[in-house]
Amino acid sequence: MCLGTIGKNSIRFTEQFFLFICFTVIITNVVVSAMKPQDFRTCAQTSFCRRNRAYADKAISNSFVSPYNVVKDTINIENGIISGELINTENKVSFVFQVHLLMNNIARIKINEKYPLKPRYDGVKYWSLIQEPVNTLEYTENPSTGKDGVTSLSFGVDRNRKVIIYHTPFHVELLVNDEPVIIFNNRGFFNFEHLRKKDDSVNQPEELIIQSEINTEKEIQTEEKKEERSEEGLWEETFNGKIDSKPNGPESIGLDISFPGFGHVYGIPEHASTLSLKETRGGDGTYNEPYRLYNLDVFEYDLDSPMALYGSIPFLLAHRKGVSAAILWLNAAETWIDIVKSKDDKSFLSFGKPTSTSTHTHWFSESGIIDVFAFLGPTTSDIFKQYGSLTGFTALPQSFAIGYHQCRWNYLSQGDVAEVDEGFDVNDIPYDVIWLDIEHTDDKKYFTWDKIKFSEPEKMQKNIGRKGRKMVAIVDPHVKRDDGYYIYKEAKDLDILTKDKDGKVYEGWCWPGNSVWIDWTNPKAQDWFSKKFAFIQYKGSTEFLFIWNDMNEPSVFNGPEITMPKDLLHYEGWEHRNLHNLFGMAFHSATSQGLINRTTPNHRPFVLSRSFFAGSQRFGAIWTGDNVANWDHLAASSPMLLTIGISGLPFSGADVGGFFGNPEPELLVRWYQTGAFQPFFRAHAHIDTKRREPWLFGDPYTSYIRDAIRQRYILLPFWYTIFQEASTNGMPIIRPMFVVFPDNEEIFAMEDQYFIGNSLLVKPITNQGQTTTEVYFAGNDLYYDYYTFKKVQGSGKVKVDITMNKIPVFLKGGSIIPRRQRFRRSSLAMYSDPFTLLVALNKKGEAAGTLYLDDGKTYEYQKGHYIHRNFNFTSGRFISTSFNKQVQDSENNYIKTNKDLRIERIIVLGVDRSPKNIIGYYNDLIDDKKELKFSLGGIDDIKGIVSASIGVSVEEISKDIIIIRDPKLLVKRDWTIEFVN
Ligand SMILES: *[C@@H]1O[C@H](CO)[C@@H](O)[C@H](O)[C@H]1NC(C)=O
Ligand SMILES: *[C@@H]1O[C@H](CO)[C@@H](O)[C@H](O)[C@H]1NC(C)=O
Repeated sequence: MCLGTIGKNSIRFTEQFFLFICFTVIITNVVVSAMKPQDFRTCAQTSFCRRNRAYADKAISNSFVSPYNVVKDTINIENGIISGELINTENKVSFVFQVHLLMNNIARIKINEKYPLKPRYDGVKYWSLIQEPVNTLEYTENPSTGKDGVTSLSFGVDRNRKVIIYHTPFHVELLVNDEPVIIFNNRGFFNFEHLRKKDDSVNQPEELIIQSEINTEKEIQTEEKKEERSEEGLWEETFNGKIDSKPNGPESIGLDISFPGFGHVYGIPEHASTLSLKETRGGDGTYNEPYRLYNLDVFEYDLDSPMALYGSIPFLLAHRKGVSAAILWLNAAETWIDIVKSKDDKSFLSFGKPTSTSTHTHWFSESGIIDVFAFLGPTTSDIFKQYGSLTGFTALPQSFAIGYHQCRWNYLSQGDVAEVDEGFDVNDIPYDVIWLDIEHTDDKKYFTWDKIKFSEPEKMQKNIGRKGRKMVAIVDPHVKRDDGYYIYKEAKDLDILTKDKDGKVYEGWCWPGNSVWIDWTNPKAQDWFSKKFAFIQYKGSTEFLFIWNDMNEPSVFNGPEITMPKDLLHYEGWEHRNLHNLFGMAFHSATSQGLINRTTPNHRPFVLSRSFFAGSQRFGAIWTGDNVANWDHLAASSPMLLTIGISGLPFSGADVGGFFGNPEPELLVRWYQTGAFQPFFRAHAHIDTKRREPWLFGDPYTSYIRDAIRQRYILLPFWYTIFQEASTNGMPIIRPMFVVFPDNEEIFAMEDQYFIGNSLLVKPITNQGQTTTEVYFAGNDLYYDYYTFKKVQGSGKVKVDITMNKIPVFLKGGSIIPRRQRFRRSSLAMYSDPFTLLVALNKKGEAAGTLYLDDGKTYEYQKGHYIHRNFNFTSGRFISTSFNKQVQDSENNYIKTNKDLRIERIIVLGVDRSPKNIIGYYNDLIDDKKELKFSLGGIDDIKGIVSASIGVSVEEISKDIIIIRDPKLLVKRDWTIEFVN
């Protein structure tokens, strides 16, 4: 079997290169996955990683003192910027540094060479930041300016943030309420390899042999070998026979960043690792390799590994009881991060609690400058907002995008598409989007259609669109090198293709065979490419068609590590090595802009991307790439998506069912049940797998899958409301336990259960044959079983019985959740459906929630054309008021076209006695109070309850609920419901 040797492998591929790999696999009978570690570099195989780790080892020795000092009398403070000069006292190289004090309790440190031989890359900001950040002028008038070797300054509106710059050696502390939360160069790992000439032999950086026991070079190095190694990799590196020419020589930057008193750090996706990041310098249960950020096409990736995957976000969040802090390492070159923790670290004794744990991180990138943002919280929600104010909040998607997506490599023809679409209707399963992979094209030329199998693409899309559904087609970044292909021809003529080190157009192998890559970093390419999505240009496309971007790490089958050589040249002559990690995002950006511009007025785009970087949240959703149909990959999806979500990119998902291999029905069911409660919900499968549309398994499995998908659709109003929240304040959509309960240290590392918003607690089932599980109920809160509405007895860890028809989901007391309980075939078909409000009272008998609604398609909402309700249940009064102060109702186009939207049912959980009666009225018609019909225990209306409480019998449903039937209240108006005792 020649499967997955290169991410996604066409069985039709017959190039020698692939035959060779297939052949090797067959004759040695090696499991495919056994081959892959050789495809990717380790730290020891990467010269700047070796050098920076060795530098760190040297720095922790007792006698070491960091050679970087602030040059006397160079400090200047102006307009929120502290600037000065540094000197490396060993080689006398000069640097300039700046500490910017920014609005919203953000600080930024930049360090660059004072006189570089040539400019160093500083272009990441243009891609990741939405604007040049604004400096704050809120800081102390009379800072100490360095007489005693220290410059310090308080900033922020309350002056409760502080920056202290120590001059000799140079290090910087950031404090919140007088407690240090982030320290730069605390351990002296700061290492800035200045640009130099190759023949300047005395001035080359040392290659030190890594001292620690985890040296992966097995053999003991002799002195002679050390000599040899000292030159290795500085001006040329070879990996798997592929040469990196490194014309600029060594140019890495490294810095240690400590988080005193913080025992947990999170973030730096993408890795198939734990939520709370592990230590990386050896020892029990830790990694030997640093976390690596280098966007790569890693098929069937290893789990529990710091290996690089498809995307990179160099954002790291530290959290402890009472305070959070975070950093963004704004660099798109290959980056590695070492993490170690210390107990009773002497250097922290003066301010930390003596028994606390501190986390020390070490960041190093192959090139560029030091440009680090520090987010000073103090809460996680403050940090999500601070990070989003810099890199942008997630784009509000069209509402169909949060429905269910059906994908496979490949739906083979327009007939196949029609049959699958029909299958959903016949089997009463809702879905929103059917996807086409690379085989839909004419010979892997994107923007074209296979003339035989997809002869009538417009008709196909319109047939799907008529049912309120959509299609997605793939557009990858490689371009078939074929003079008859207009995309290739135009890009070549415009001179916007990526060049090799000698300035010739770079060619490599990908799906179409010999391919070239558009240089997405060229503004001309962005502009030109986005126009390719205009309906008149993209022949056969309609407004029902959306796009996914795959292979944009980029994947190059014959490139080093299956990606682009680092010495390729981009716009303005920048080497690929400087911007590798943002290349995929630049493609995503152009695609997304293309979809926005193809309609007037503009519609919101939907573009799924595999590769990502800081800022990708502005362009669309991402998925976790080529996972495997096994239980461990299902389990891994939760920490992966939680990590990506807290790193500013909340719209993400994992292929339901697993991309490679054939899931057994039980696994597939559990995957659907989990995917239904993750932000992006798509089933996908490799071309060599068996077909797995939900109805192919028969009952009970098909019913279980149907129920899982229906649960998703019932909750779409809730999901959409949380997406809207994420798009305005950066809150993750699915939230780790520590975000919802920031003071409970017991759950800081918990990753196998999570919240959707702050209301729904979800515990995926990730073992075969499992019949019970433990769920942790945090806080002094009431919880209700989401399906039976029964109160959970107990708190902390509670054993819960489980069945095959659903996974454990609980409602936190105090929540109000909007639902739409009528079954339809797509989200669009539910557009005008009435709402059920699920009110889960807390111990005080209170609850609150919100509902956000708009046209789900255009940008009209930005002008105020939406409904945003605030629901509040206190002291027996349930009040709905509007958050929308932007426009009058009479001017609100959404309200005008949805004036009849109503509440059809209210279910109140946790009511211990029946009220005498319940009355309802509009707040501006206080004299027109109506008595409302209600029942206790829900017996009268059990059909509506059961239909939404899938798989639950009438007997199982709690008796302590009140159902208010058809209160005849319009969503758009302010109203009150009173419980009269
Ligand atoms: C896309 O539309 C925006 C706003 O209408 C416009 O500024 C931009 O130039 C357009 N871009 C292209 C490539 O057409
Ligand atoms: C709910 O209403 C009560 C009483 O008016 C108020 O004190 C509380 O802040 C409100 N809660 C929310 C979340 O709006």
